[in-house]
Amino acid sequence: MTAQELRQKYLDFFARRGHQIISSASLLPENDPTVLFTTAGMHPLVPYLMGDAHPVGTRLVNAQKCVRTDDIDEVGDATHHTFFEMMGNWSLGDYFKTESITWSWEFLTSAEGLNLNPKLLAVSVFAGDSDAPFDEESYNLWLQVGVPAERIAKLPKKNNWWGPAGQTGPCGADTEIFYWSGNLEDVPASFNDDNDLWVEIWNNVFMQYFKNIDGNFEALKQKNVDTGLGLERVTSILNHCDNYQTDLFLPIINKIEDLSNEKYLSDKSITRSMRIIADHIKAAVFIIGDPKGVTPSNVGQGYVVRRLLRRAIVQAGRLGIAIKTSSAWLEEIVGVVINIYASVYPELIENKIFITQAITQEADKFQRTLENGLKEFDKLNVENNLVRGNDVFNLFQSYGFPWELSEELALERGWKIDRAGFEAELEKHQALSRTASAGKFKGGLADNSEATTQLHTAAHLLLAALRQVLGDHVNQKGSNITAERLRFDFSHPEKVSPEQIAKIENLVNEAIGKSLDVVYEELPLEEAKSSGATGVFDSKYGERVKVYTVGRNNDKIPREWDDIFSREICGGPHVDSLKDLGSFKITKEEASSAGVRRIKAILE
Ligand code: ALA
Repeated sequence: MTAQELRQKYLDFFARRGHQIISSASLLPENDPTVLFTTAGMHPLVPYLMGDAHPVGTRLVNAQKCVRTDDIDEVGDATHHTFFEMMGNWSLGDYFKTESITWSWEFLTSAEGLNLNPKLLAVSVFAGDSDAPFDEESYNLWLQVGVPAERIAKLPKKNNWWGPAGQTGPCGADTEIFYWSGNLEDVPASFNDDNDLWVEIWNNVFMQYFKNIDGNFEALKQKNVDTGLGLERVTSILNHCDNYQTDLFLPIINKIEDLSNEKYLSDKSITRSMRIIADHIKAAVFIIGDPKGVTPSNVGQGYVVRRLLRRAIVQAGRLGIAIKTSSAWLEEIVGVVINIYASVYPELIENKIFITQAITQEADKFQRTLENGLKEFDKLNVENNLVRGNDVFNLFQSYGFPWELSEELALERGWKIDRAGFEAELEKHQALSRTASAGKFKGGLADNSEATTQLHTAAHLLLAALRQVLGDHVNQKGSNITAERLRFDFSHPEKVSPEQIAKIENLVNEAIGKSLDVVYEELPLEEAKSSGATGVFDSKYGERVKVYTVGRNNDKIPREWDDIFSREICGGPHVDSLKDLGSFKITKEEASSAGVRRIKAILE
């Protein structure tokens, strides 16, 4: 079964059980300063898990694009990925454990689903502690569907609890499903989660608590189900191959084989290089090609893209791909990635030129950096044929030299690098930057305080004013809102002049001065789009979306284009009226990355 087929099968299975299929949300979280990327399917749905009504209903099913960067260094083995898709079925205060467990089992073991052998499955449930009791209900439900007691492990919070670690947010006990990836003859009678051959394939979270700022667990307004089934992993299991041999990766691996004249799995280090190239370029394509895509830069999300591309380029060099002469090889790989996903994520096709340009420009830039770094490398003071860890770190820090590159250059000169010393330096540095941006990489709950809500509304006004002053080519590229300020990235080729800034501020302040209403509607996506709503929302399912409108005058709900000041598809939340917004002020305008400007603004 291909991943395409599996994805569709999953969506259809739950659609037949009353779920509405919804599109993947953006990889770049809306209105949430706590994370760089969408890391799980639940992330964009947090407001609905908390009790907001979702426009399409209480049962949803989707495949969500996710990026996780915490274990980027593990990429290169058979299972870790930077970009992956998480399939999920959702109950927003609708069904709970009975349906969730029964349907999961049915999907995995019946002919309508995947037809997996039940003898190869095992599960775990929450054992209970002082915060929440043993999940006896799930335990009994598993027994009822036919899982033998020896295959049901009772495990602590560390294993069977899902929620934002150390932060506030919705959470709850979960039950996990494992598949025996070893030989059928060797499957143990009982389940032991220490055995790596048991691979976790599905996590059903019963979100019924809210972890508050004091670390206590309060009951949520409603009981929800959040599940996550890893598309890459399950596809590989169904096809008895490694993740890189599935239809989600194989064409990329084949292309790398062609370009390098090497064979996948012929050698450990070649295999690792090929996996890193495939994984990293795919992730970069998705991040850049997202409707709210970002390009390589030195900060935040852009820095992640830069690191991914540089690592991929270094590995390509190791495989003997001619990275110095041209970046045509990169264009070829990008084309293959886009082809694999074209029918599911049409944004990649729409943004193909943008993606290709951003990636090849970065490769050219890196080439120049490499040349400079090489000169620095030759100036190093090397004693006893050992390059100091500190020097390896400085080359990494200043020239983007991954340690592999320093190692290679060292080898050419008959030296070695102090790898442990480098890692110690890196760790020290990462510990520092982690403290500096505490929690930034963890999933979390957006701060929905009054101040952030006001700034979120101000961001809509800003986009409208930008389009009015600079032109319709302006699209939102990303935003980050805290209680203090808003940061807003948008496509525009040149600096915004002080006169233009003044005009933009005036337009926003005029709207605020009229105390205009913010009107909220739910519309089918096509209708929202044809009515002129902007918004970074791609849908294939014609679902209903939320639209927030600010008219130019308050005497009627605006329908005519001329009467509309701002109209955006957006999850919210927003203020009802502009009356208490105060005064809007742009504090900074700067370049964010190629073709993208960044504005910081406040409400005083
Ligand atoms: N939110 C759960 C996870 O990411 C399903 O594993």
